[in-house]
Amino acid sequence: MRFSLSTIVAVAALTSQASASLMSQYSTSSSFNPTELRLVQTEAGTEWVTEADKLELKRAGTNFMDITDHEDLGVTALLDMTNTTYPTELLFQDEVAPLIGNISTAAMKMNLEIFSSFFNRFYKAKTGGDSSMWLFNTVKAIAGVNPNVTVFPFHHAWPQKSLVAKIPGINAGTALDRTVIVGAHQDSMNLLFPSLFGAPGADDDGSGTVTILETFRVLIESGFQPNNTIEFHWYSAEEGGLLGSQAIFAEYSKRQIAVTAMLQQDMTGYVAKTLEAGEPEAIGVVTDFVHPALTEFIKTAITGYASIPYVETSCGYACSDHASAAKAGYPSAFVIESAFENTNPFIHSVKDTVDRLSFEHMAEHAKLTLGYVYELAYYNFTSPPVPASA
Ligand SMILES: *[C@@H]1O[C@H](CO)[C@@H](O)[C@H](O)[C@H]1NC(C)=O
Ligand SMILES: *[C@@H]1O[C@H](CO)[C@@H](O)[C@H](O)[C@H]1NC(C)=O
Ligand SMILES: *[C@@H]1O[C@H](CO)[C@@H](O)[C@H](O)[C@H]1NC(C)=O
Ligand SMILES: *[C@@H]1O[C@H](CO)[C@@H](O)[C@H](O)[C@H]1NC(C)=O
Ligand SMILES: [Zn+2]
Repeated sequence: MRFSLSTIVAVAALTSQASASLMSQYSTSSSFNPTELRLVQTEAGTEWVTEADKLELKRAGTNFMDITDHEDLGVTALLDMTNTTYPTELLFQDEVAPLIGNISTAAMKMNLEIFSSFFNRFYKAKTGGDSSMWLFNTVKAIAGVNPNVTVFPFHHAWPQKSLVAKIPGINAGTALDRTVIVGAHQDSMNLLFPSLFGAPGADDDGSGTVTILETFRVLIESGFQPNNTIEFHWYSAEEGGLLGSQAIFAEYSKRQIAVTAMLQQDMTGYVAKTLEAGEPEAIGVVTDFVHPALTEFIKTAITGYASIPYVETSCGYACSDHASAAKAGYPSAFVIESAFENTNPFIHSVKDTVDRLSFEHMAEHAKLTLGYVYELAYYNFTSPPVPASA
């Protein structure tokens, strides 16, 4: 086949445009550089590795925290909330029941279809920045009906921002203030080559993102006014080694914010493997590297608020963003869609799609989250005392 000169010139122009845009993508300081050195902490210890090595660690199933920017997280913690106690009985089932009735699987599905349609939500990619912008606008629109609620982006050295929505308690801004957090991570990643390949991340962790978003919507629309401060967090760059959550908890630790509970939900929608194994659908309660008393309360909340039971499971060191809270001295817990061995096998690939997920199962996580928030919103966290300087 022969090309006319003008076709060749046009193709050459297109090619050079494409490579120029590829170059500009790679010349920004935040772009993925496989040879960049990073300090990572695994269960075995701390070592310098490259960004490419980090992908290898993930492919091998070795969890890590990338502590390059926050090496001293927890080392200089001024607050230690680890002796905090929790309700042993549930007091708000009558109040929470109508809220549970307002959970909409259709709203979660609509949000997740949009959120998983970004090519990927890689934290260093423009699409990861765009997806955090969409999430920010969505959270803000929900919060808009209540002037007391603030929504703010938490900026990082890469394009994707973490997000915090805050419903202030009656003691907000004083030393008596206590903060209860609900978290999920917003980024997604294709493990083959994160900046070039797609990653719908419907389950990991689009599901957790829309689960807590739906909880937030139901609470806000009910006119909810907590006594303790309630915050919803959507972390950036979990897949990079818990980067966004470390930045946030380093800041909270520095500002001596008295966080009494943090519940992370990373993957809330996949049940096929549990059902194929002939096991009952259940919420996976992680029991390793978590706060024992908070985790006991989570089990009580599942029994009292969800319609399915829990199954105890373990996930390993630095498994998700709750590990950043724990490192900062804050009690944290983690729930996941099933026993760990039955979780979604399609994550970190183009196959992590909405059609493989159960929105009814996500609704069970949302019920638990409503119960967790409501019970802790009015719990009198008397201990431990926080210094008046806080
Ligand atoms: C937590 O409780 C233990 C056992 O009572 C006590 O030794 C420790 O000092 C407490 N820590 C804080 C930070 O209150
Ligand atoms: C906002 O906070 C004030 C002061 O606590 C309270 O009186 C008011 O009802 C709150 N508004 C909403 C919509 O929650
Ligand atoms: C449930 O949602 C409906 C429609 O938005 C609203 O009118 C009602 O007040 C909500 N119920 C509660 C308990 O929030
Ligand atoms: C919230 O705090 C106020 C003031 O301390 C108290 O009177 C009220 O009973 C608390 N609400 C609940 C539901 O515990
Ligand atoms: Zn995840």
